[in-house]
Amino acid sequence: MDEQQIPKHEEPMHFLVFSASLRKDSLNTRLAQLAAQVIEEKGGKVDFANMRDFDVPSYDQDVESDEGHPAGAEEFCKRLLANDAFIISSPEYNGSMPGLLKNAIDWVSRFRPQPFKERHALLMSASPSMGGGNKGLWSLRMPLEHLGARVYPDMFSLATAHKAFTEDSTIADSTLQKRFEDNLVAFKDLVEAAKHYPCIKKAWVEFLGEYPDPVTERVE
Ligand code: FNR
Repeated sequence: MDEQQIPKHEEPMHFLVFSASLRKDSLNTRLAQLAAQVIEEKGGKVDFANMRDFDVPSYDQDVESDEGHPAGAEEFCKRLLANDAFIISSPEYNGSMPGLLKNAIDWVSRFRPQPFKERHALLMSASPSMGGGNKGLWSLRMPLEHLGARVYPDMFSLATAHKAFTEDSTIADSTLQKRFEDNLVAFKDLVEAAKHYPCIKKAWVEFLGEYPDPVTERVE
């Protein structure tokens, strides 16, 4: 195609980025901040959230029926809808995702339209362990995919993260830093393509043979 015919998309992609750790010196918050920096350097717009913005009580269906959604769930939903995609850097707790993150996802899954549906997600983790918290990300994929989020296949897990950062909070190993950046750029390109080329499949049904029923439906 003649270069002049290639459509130019000037509007930047918007990314919600947050760490699922509340800890002041969180390694995951450092990694999320580094991801935000790379996204902005590559021309994206970042909405950086603090997990405290999404603070919610333990999910209780009676509370939902009587009082509706808590403010933290409203905020999480609003920020998801306001962005094209989201990036989570999550600690691994006992081989799984932190309870507070799953609890927040459970609350948000109750909104209609259900905001995770068709939203692109990139998962990353940091841990002092050799596994980098990767096992926790596999558990996090499950509810997100269940809700129809498009979870990017390549997840980034920073092993021995307590020793991995330079003083200015980049990854000390330059090959690893490059791999981190390349992963973010590939994700950003996919989000951009999905937004501007809507021929990409949109419909989502978890089991194609499942009988449609409002009682079990997780999508509007
Ligand atoms: C951990 N940690 C941990 N690390 C890991 O790699 N696999 C695991 O299963 C666990 N389990 C676990 C449970 C609980 C309750 C805590 C508090 C911690 C260690 C964890 O990775 C480490 O504390 C990180 O520094 C936590 O992430 P932030 O807060 O630094 O982002």
